[in-house]
Amino acid sequence: MTKKIKTIVDLRDELTETRKLKKKISLVPTMGNIHEGHLSLIKNAQKQSDYVVVSIFVNPTQFVAGEDFNEYPRTLDSDIELISKLNVNLVFIPDVIELYPMNNKISTEVSIPELESIYCGKHRPGHFRGVATIVSKLFNIVQPDIAIFGEKDYQQLLIIRSLVKNHFLPIEIISLPTVREASGLAMSSRNNYLTESERKKAPMLYECIKTTVNLIINGAKDYEKLEREAKLFLEEAEFKIEYYNICDSETLGPVQGKILVVLAAVWLGKTRLIDNATAHTYD
Ligand code: PAF
Repeated sequence: MTKKIKTIVDLRDELTETRKLKKKISLVPTMGNIHEGHLSLIKNAQKQSDYVVVSIFVNPTQFVAGEDFNEYPRTLDSDIELISKLNVNLVFIPDVIELYPMNNKISTEVSIPELESIYCGKHRPGHFRGVATIVSKLFNIVQPDIAIFGEKDYQQLLIIRSLVKNHFLPIEIISLPTVREASGLAMSSRNNYLTESERKKAPMLYECIKTTVNLIINGAKDYEKLEREAKLFLEEAEFKIEYYNICDSETLGPVQGKILVVLAAVWLGKTRLIDNATAHTYD
C-alpha cells in the first residue's frame, strides 16, 4: 500500500526505518498531474531501487510573476490513484508552508550563475533558482540514493546535475528519454492548455527539431542558418518562438564537445512548449 505523508518529520521517521533495512531509496520529484512521462520515471525508479518516494508539490518559487501557478493542473486524487496502482512505497505531498515556513525570516536560494539566465532562464527569470532550491530541499529531506528526471526539460537536468556535483551530494541522477504522444508531441501537463486545433499543430515542433538534427547528421555545419530556417518554418505555422538554438550538450554554450543539443521553447496560443533532441557532431 502506498503511504501518504505530508510532513518532513513523518517522512524522516518512515525513511529512517527504511534505511535501517539497507534499502536503496529513489526519489521521483513531480509537480503532480501525473501522466505517462511520470509513470515511466516511476517504473524505472522501481527497477533501480528497493523503495520509491514520489513527491507531488507545485512549487511556487519556480513560477515567475504572471505565469500559470494558479491555473497549473492540480489533480491530486487521480495522481494518488495512479501512483498507488503502481505500488509506489510513499507519496510525499507537503503543503507550501511545510517547505517554505513563514517563520523563516531569512530565506536561502540555490543559484546556478552560468545556466540560470540563458534560454528558459532568460525568458523565465528566477525560474531555475526556484527549481534548484526546491530540488535541493527535497534532496535534503528525502536523502535518496538516486533521483530520476525526464530529459524533456534539458536545461533543468543540467542544473540538477550541477547542483549534485557542486554541492557534493551523494545522489545518482538518472535521466530518461522524453515520453511522447503517438504524434511525437512531448508529454507535458501544460499540453492540457492546448485547444483541439493547437494540439494538431503542436507536433510540428518536434518534427522541426528532428529535421534540424537530421540535417546536422547529414553534414550541415552552419548552425546559425539551420536555426534561422527552423524559426522561419515554425513562425510560418504561427508558433511564437522564444528560442531555437543549437548548443553544446554539456555547457549550453557554443558547440565544442562531441554532442550538441537542439533546444527550443515556443508558444502556441496560450501554451508554452519546450522540447529538445541531441546529436553527435562529426568534426
Ligand atoms: O520538472 C518538474 O516537474 C519540476 O520542475 C520539479 C523538478 C519537480 C521541481 O519542482
